Amino acid sequence: MNVRKFLTNSPLDKLLDGGIECGVITNVYGPAGSGKSNICLTSLLQAKNKTLYIDSEGSFSLDRFRQIGGDEKKLKNIIFIDVHTWKDQYEQMIRLDKIIQKDKIDIVIVDSIVSLYRLELDNTDKEKVSRTNMQLGAVYSVLSRIARERNIPILVTNQVYGSGEDIEPTSKTIARYWSKCLIEFKKLDKDNCRKAIIRKHRSLPEGKQIDFEIYQKGIKEYRKLF
Ligand SMILES: Nc1ncnc2c1ncn2[C@@H]1O[C@H](COP(=O)(O)OP(=O)(O)OP(=O)(O)O)[C@@H](O)[C@H]1O
Ligand SMILES: [Mg+2]
Repeated sequence: MNVRKFLTNSPLDKLLDGGIECGVITNVYGPAGSGKSNICLTSLLQAKNKTLYIDSEGSFSLDRFRQIGGDEKKLKNIIFIDVHTWKDQYEQMIRLDKIIQKDKIDIVIVDSIVSLYRLELDNTDKEKVSRTNMQLGAVYSVLSRIARERNIPILVTNQVYGSGEDIEPTSKTIARYWSKCLIEFKKLDKDNCRKAIIRKHRSLPEGKQIDFEIYQKGIKEYRKLF
């Protein structure tokens, strides 16, 4: 059986042989400014029906949305969920079915899934840490079920921080378990170049990669001029 794919209107489509897979969670992780929110925006524009955008860090930029071709019609089709605390995010996400009900949703985006979770872990209360980890697993499990039941793609982002700071190893294990596709974004020193590398995929080799750049109208493959 062929897996249905969803175009992101970015070099990820070439990297992933036709787009992100429907029915599963795709997880994009990388440092600040590596292009995660840009990929979310270009993907939103590919949807024909409604989309669901869960924003945990005010990452949605209307200016950027318009720059890359977003218009009022597309904007109206986005169901926005703004969350400000982990409790808020958890409570909204475990009742996503109630929020989307019978709406025809083409893609669900969570940008980012762990920024508020990280804040919650910033303490020494072991019981709280373990409860928060269970909640993160529950959130992923709801997303995974919605992806499967509706055969739609779920795109989630994770910010990774500089070396030496690794307070959430468990969240990486949870992310790896629930995401059938993991893609790492890196910022390269040269020009404005970024790299996307497949770290986990059901039918493509780990390590496959593509260089890309962010420009006024979106994201395109990076090509050396010489
Ligand atoms: N019009 C534009 N032309 C060129 N580059 C742009 C343009 N608009 C935004 N960028 C670049 O996009 C980058 C930000 O990308 P993006 O917001 O997708 O990053 P991110 O990975 O989501 O970061 P964070 O983890 O902080 O949310 C910045 O380097 C910015 O300079
Ligand atoms: Mg972002």
